[in-house]
Amino acid sequence: MKLQSIKHLFQIFLFTFSGLYFQSGLMAQEAFPEGEGRNEIFVACTQCHGLGHLTRVNLNAQEWENAVYDMVARGASIDVDDLDSIKNYLINNLSTDR
Ligand code: HEC
Repeated sequence: MKLQSIKHLFQIFLFTFSGLYFQSGLMAQEAFPEGEGRNEIFVACTQCHGLGHLTRVNLNAQEWENAVYDMVARGASIDVDDLDSIKNYLINNLSTDR
């Protein structure tokens, strides 16, 4: 086998392997896909409990909206400017009737 084709095989191997690696990383974040409000949630909703609270419950859009205000009432410190993006993110990505 020529050196060139070994190099080529190696490149294919690397490409496939990094693809798999990338996909498994994505799967771990599947519950919280990239999007506006995601980082704010990671900050605001982990002050008192884990993110498991968010993935464990099955809430519809209205219930998510209520939940956010409920958390604020419990003392969650959320910037007013972030309220809408947090609510929208939860509704678009986690609600049962999305
Ligand atoms: C000030 C503390 C605090 C913060 C910050 C907070 N929560 Fe909570 N959350 C609680 C408490 C207390 C409970 C109820 C007790 C428990 O289950 O641990 C709870 C429970 C929940 C539940 C479960 C409700 C159920 O029906 O079982 C959800 C969903 C939830 N929180 C969502 C959020 C979201 C979304 C955020 C961010 C916007 C957030 N929480 C931030 C205190 C907080």
